[in-house]
Amino acid sequence: MLRVTRAAGRDTVLVHGASGAVGVSLLQQLRLLGARVIGTASERGADVVRRFGGEWVAYGDGLEARVRSLAPSGIDVALDCVGTDEAVDVSLAVVADRDRIVTIAAPARAAEAGFAAVGGAQPASKAFRDSVRQRLIDLAGAGQLEVPVARTFPLAEATAAAELLESGHPGGKLALVP
Ligand SMILES: NC(=O)c1ccc[n+]([C@@H]2O[C@H](COP(=O)([O-])OP(=O)(O)OC[C@H]3O[C@@H](n4cnc5c(N)ncnc54)[C@H](OP(=O)(O)O)[C@@H]3O)[C@@H](O)[C@H]2O)c1
Repeated sequence: MLRVTRAAGRDTVLVHGASGAVGVSLLQQLRLLGARVIGTASERGADVVRRFGGEWVAYGDGLEARVRSLAPSGIDVALDCVGTDEAVDVSLAVVADRDRIVTIAAPARAAEAGFAAVGGAQPASKAFRDSVRQRLIDLAGAGQLEVPVARTFPLAEATAAAELLESGHPGGKLALVP
């Protein structure tokens, strides 16, 4: 998401779903770049967004106006980890350049409106992820990238872990423990 939008330290970035597993990784990587980040979540996710360096804004009715009032001079980049029509519509409304909008959860809207959607099943996206995985592991090892673990499972319960993963919103990474 950061690569396809060319996110950089001078940017003001809107992250939809900033308290989730993908969102907190983006927040931390954007903090390392030095970017200003406004992150959406419900009220229960506000502290998580702030802890990882974002400015929290509630999603729901009036989101566009709240975002505009936090960033009157504009949003440069929108990263959508939610995929709702609200997240897509607000991204399209506040970001002038569609090349700087990306989603991981609304591919049909992206195709229709002409912005990027990325996913691990796309060969280019998979190759890029493979190429940066070690860098992310190094950042985690150096204490610069926290990866919240929602739950651990004994290895023998891997099937239950896979079922939770398939549910779509495990609320963090799942770890299998030998
Ligand atoms: N394309 C890919 O490569 C890829 C990779 C990983 C994940 N995904 C997809 O990306 C999405 C996010 O994954 P995740 O693991 O980060 O999920 P997650 O940990 O469950 O986080 C979901 C985030 O979305 C927010 N949210 C929930 N309902 C919302 C709504 N109606 N409007 C706005 N925000 C809402 C949550 O905030 P609250 O908890 O405060 O409501 C939270 O910040 C999922 O759909 C997942 O399937 C795609």
